[in-house]
Amino acid sequence: MSKCSECSLHCDASRVVAGDGNPEARIMFIGEAPGKKEDETGIPFVGAAGKFLSEMLAEIKLTREDIYIANVVKCRPPQNRDPLAEEVSACWPWLQKQIEIIDPKLIVTLGRHSLNRFFPELKISETHGKVFQAELPKIGRRNFYALYHPAAALYNGSMREVLKKDFKKIPKILKQL
Ligand code: URA
Repeated sequence: MSKCSECSLHCDASRVVAGDGNPEARIMFIGEAPGKKEDETGIPFVGAAGKFLSEMLAEIKLTREDIYIANVVKCRPPQNRDPLAEEVSACWPWLQKQIEIIDPKLIVTLGRHSLNRFFPELKISETHGKVFQAELPKIGRRNFYALYHPAAALYNGSMREVLKKDFKKIPKILKQL
């Protein structure tokens, strides 16, 4: 992955942010793309959104060592712009491979870009907080759970409450799988 040049994002990024956490995790979180801090450290979700995510994990008695976390796009887009469709497509085989290796029972998509990478037709406002199953090429049959992105929810009080409420349902969902 560190040598990938399938799209132009590698030109500006300092490093590839592959993924982090427990390779045996039953739960895999998938965000959008690395930001500044992630680009500096090579670790996903280490900035403000990551801190918020860790707080929510702590509330359900999980740590970063219990989960695996990766992004749809592995290199930071310039000025944190949204990843382009061709960048997301170029990075897709890496994400597919990660899912194959980690083999999670539950995939939690963080934000609209992550949800729409798997299900382009779904709206996050209608899908968040619900578990659903889908069979996807190379990924197989998986359970999905869509959440709002912690970065978006950080600065939006009502979204923040919805995200926290949805997050608290995770232990029960995992138990039932
Ligand atoms: N937001 C993301 O989607 N991913 C990160 O790694 C950091 C912030």
